[in-house]
Amino acid sequence: MTAKASSDGLMEEIVGLCKRRGFIFPSSEIYGGYNGFYDYGPLGVELRNNIKQAWWRDMVQRRDDIEGLDSTIIMHPDIWKASGHVDGFSDPMVDCRESKLRYRADQLFFAPVIVAGETIGYVSVVECPEQQEIAEKAAADIKRKAAKQGTLEPIVLKDYTESKPEEYDLVPSPATGKPGSLTAPREFKLMFETKVGPLADDSAVAYLRPETAQGIFANYKNIVDTGRVKIPFGIAQIGKAFRNEITPRNFIFRSREFEQMEIEYFISPSADWKALHREWIDTCIDWLVSIGLPREDISEDIHPEDKLAFYSRATTDLMFQFPHGEQELWGVACRGDYDLMQHQEHSGKSMTIFDEASKEKFVPHVIEPSLGVDRTLLAVLTAAYTQDEVPNDKGKVEQRTLLKFSPKIAPVKAAIFPLLKNKPELVERAQALYKKLQRRWNVFYDASGAIGRRYRRQDEIGTPFGITIDFDTIEKGRHRHSARPRHLRATPRD
Ligand code: GAP
Repeated sequence: MTAKASSDGLMEEIVGLCKRRGFIFPSSEIYGGYNGFYDYGPLGVELRNNIKQAWWRDMVQRRDDIEGLDSTIIMHPDIWKASGHVDGFSDPMVDCRESKLRYRADQLFFAPVIVAGETIGYVSVVECPEQQEIAEKAAADIKRKAAKQGTLEPIVLKDYTESKPEEYDLVPSPATGKPGSLTAPREFKLMFETKVGPLADDSAVAYLRPETAQGIFANYKNIVDTGRVKIPFGIAQIGKAFRNEITPRNFIFRSREFEQMEIEYFISPSADWKALHREWIDTCIDWLVSIGLPREDISEDIHPEDKLAFYSRATTDLMFQFPHGEQELWGVACRGDYDLMQHQEHSGKSMTIFDEASKEKFVPHVIEPSLGVDRTLLAVLTAAYTQDEVPNDKGKVEQRTLLKFSPKIAPVKAAIFPLLKNKPELVERAQALYKKLQRRWNVFYDASGAIGRRYRRQDEIGTPFGITIDFDTIEKGRHRHSARPRHLRATPRD
């Protein structure tokens, strides 16, 4: 029987496996860790690189209409003024003065507790799938403690950005359970600042990029001038991004240092942008399926028109069933000509392009598919994580943990086992095969322990192929080759 762990425990189990087998470690762990930062160990770095390489191959190298770019992390600070990040890239936050904990105001929910028309207190809860249940239980406790008779009115949770000044002192802090310590919501800047050069004053302030996209806009002109592109075309970039997230959480889902894979796809202002947007959404879904995510775990969240930023025509987020619930994995936005126009205005450089086909000159509009590497990696781990029961070498049924990675992204592609490590002919043959495969793939050689246990160790890290060199291999030229296609969710395309 094969089963997924319950979603409650699934994140914990994935975090545990990642640490135990060397995928992901908390950053600076010997100093107690550093919230919102993670390090990728030997298997994690392979998985991460495979995801990035698969994306680059499919989105850049296999397409005639997309060019690659690698721009710097620190760029001229005026770029962030033009893009609107200096003034507008912030989240509403609320502090608990007593515990010193900080919450994102839109992730902190509260409600009045009303009994027979009278407000007898407030409940608060940090956003989670069970928030309604938790709030209702807390409200029932308040009613019981107050010994109030009458009907408890339904608990209607609102996020803290909707709180009124007179409520600030009444809503309890989720940390202490007591009212009076929460501040009003305040805007908290998400860009990390640094200083560049020998001056220590404000003129030296620069920013660690919070998205790779602006590096693309800043280089758009350079790439147009190389003469390699014609409308419609895209520029793709993979690279680090930094955000001083108020509440980094859910493992690598929301961290302070992460990596993005972004495309700005430049189109004519008169193009059928709706059709192109749809095409990009489908391309993105197909790609996620090609790296092993189950199609049924991916859904679309279309942003309502009245919630769109003023420059945005449409945004659809591709959502994935993460262990902590359905959350954004990939944003596909139609941003019009906002960014290029802003850079044209602030830099004084023309951002127009001459379109040979229509003989028109214009500033193009963009469609922006923007995906996080770390979030993709967490999605891949979530989809791959499986537990089943199999008999061990002694015939006793044991629980086994498997990662069912697509071979396209599996960190180790194959493991090679000589059946017995004290038989030189088996070891030699296994070593020769290992060396040969190693020229092209990341493969693993393991001669120690019972063969079942060696397979088990590879199952746990998601190695799709196991090759055992036994006496048949020597005599008949056949080796025991155990591919695990039954474990694979997607057939590799190459
Ligand atoms: N240029 C557009 C942009 O950056 P975004 O929705 O803020 O849009 C795009 O980010 C993607 O980057 C998200 O869908 C997510 O996959 C990833 N991402 C954003 N913030 C992140 C964080 N703090 N930690 C990990 N990944 C993040």
